[in-house]
Amino acid sequence: MYYLVANFKSYKDTHDVLAWLSEAAPNVQKQQAGVTVIICPQYPALEPAKKLLTENNWHEHILLGAQNVSAFGEGAFTGEVSARGLSGLAEYVIIGHSERRKLFHETREDIEKKTAEAYANNLKPILCVSEETVGDASLVGDGIVAFEPPSAIGSGNVESEEKIREVTGRIEGEVSEGVAVLYGGSVSGETIGELLTIGNISGFLVGSAGLDVGKFLEIFYGVCKSRRASERNV
Ligand code: PGA
Repeated sequence: MYYLVANFKSYKDTHDVLAWLSEAAPNVQKQQAGVTVIICPQYPALEPAKKLLTENNWHEHILLGAQNVSAFGEGAFTGEVSARGLSGLAEYVIIGHSERRKLFHETREDIEKKTAEAYANNLKPILCVSEETVGDASLVGDGIVAFEPPSAIGSGNVESEEKIREVTGRIEGEVSEGVAVLYGGSVSGETIGELLTIGNISGFLVGSAGLDVGKFLEIFYGVCKSRRASERNV
């Protein structure tokens, strides 16, 4: 399976997310190229987004992910959102994004607890790692690992092909078979062409370029075209 994950970060209110989905989903549905799209909006948008996707039968083509989860279970943890609270609303949850590690000082221990909470509540992790934290990938048994070099995030500068190959290769050595390894960091309509030539990745995590439906679809169509071409060559 091939994945395209859009991380909306703290952009877009619920109204914006639903408008984005209403425009993107019919186009995604038409493609049928074996590419699973996962949208990660802010928490309050998850339930209305799920309703919209289900009502329109778009839910097989677009799945939902949360952007974070509490390292704790249910309990007296004001302001935290537990994995149980997300269960049924999202299929995936981003864990260990570099912004969380840097701005909110998340440690390997936090990430370990969050991953365990996710699994215990039927959520699959989208675990983000950098070159320095490749070892965290071993926490994922079923789900996705994204190599996201902090220098490439939001900078417009994608990581070099050589480095992407090297680090995703190392990640593959940490995870079991069936875990998808993605690349993220300045993926856009301009950079997707060269990124698609890197053979051993199973998709992309998109930040800024995913906020605009047109720009997101440009990436999506590029990925679909390349998937179809590679299927023809099998
Ligand atoms: P970017 O963000 O696509 O804007 O570089 C990626 C991310 O933060 O996951």
